[in-house]
Amino acid sequence: MTVSSAPGKVYLFGEHAVVYGEPAVPCAIELRARVEVNRRDDGKLRVHAEDLSLDGFTVEYSGTTDDRPDVNVSESLLSAATEYVDEAIEQVRAVTGEDDVGFDVTIESDIPLGAGLGSSAAVVVAAIDAATRELGTTLEPVELAERAYRTEYEVQDGQASRADTFCSATGGAVRVEGDDCRSIDAPDLPFVIGFDGGAGDTGQLVAGVRTLREEYDFAEDTVETVGDLVRAGEDALADGDLEELGQLMDFNHGLLSALGVSSRSLDRMVWAARDAGALGAKLTGAGGGGCIVALDPTPETETALSFTPGCEDAFRAELAEEGVRQLE
Ligand code: MEV
Repeated sequence: MTVSSAPGKVYLFGEHAVVYGEPAVPCAIELRARVEVNRRDDGKLRVHAEDLSLDGFTVEYSGTTDDRPDVNVSESLLSAATEYVDEAIEQVRAVTGEDDVGFDVTIESDIPLGAGLGSSAAVVVAAIDAATRELGTTLEPVELAERAYRTEYEVQDGQASRADTFCSATGGAVRVEGDDCRSIDAPDLPFVIGFDGGAGDTGQLVAGVRTLREEYDFAEDTVETVGDLVRAGEDALADGDLEELGQLMDFNHGLLSALGVSSRSLDRMVWAARDAGALGAKLTGAGGGGCIVALDPTPETETALSFTPGCEDAFRAELAEEGVRQLE
């Protein structure tokens, strides 16, 4: 038996603009997926998943993609439990040369699904790490990130970004620009997350920004301004200047709002966090619904968010300095 865990992520800066080649800074957070694997010699893959969401919904699923039992789980939960793991195991077979190996795989995750917190990347990274170790192979984080990226690329029909899988594999703060991902220095980041219980449609939101950008030069300028802001944010990270980081997060949220990807519930949570004294707050990920991230070393923001209408869950999730790790 081998067990690995891998963290989720938030975008400190730069989502959406990263699609147009601007830099972005995702950060790994202490909210993890754990994957246990046991080798099987009959070549079969059985996936068991539970506690895949923070809202108390539990899925008990056991099966392979060819053999789905008749259980009432949403497509996204089923995908997380089977399609991602199926493809991750294909990567494990390719990298180890053990073409016929099978596994029993059990997934547990603290990361809400589809909320922009990198839940599928964390499951894939932990699954590849655990399964390769179970076969006696240890992948370096960069190679693991590459295999996990290929997994997401296959499952998501070529729509994957390298940010989530790299961040989950390496931990810490990451600078992404095009296909280039690298770890950067960061101080302790006291993140607080507010989750509205929903999720925006990433494809539609990205398409909406594309249309605006094609229609208006000032929308194109806004995207470029996000890039400038990210570069300023990198300096603030290097200096460990939390106040400056908070101010830039507020600015980034304003620019994302201008690009049409915020929502009433996200704005409400952002303002509740700011009113509670957070150093800064912004939506994280594609937007339209889902999560905000605030920076606050005190307990005030978490408490204020938990009383904010439309906020279904509020929790601390500090910067995870460590990426994937073997637990057993
Ligand atoms: C979604 O998590 C982040 C976006 O920038 C899309 C992407 O980078 O693929 C909105």
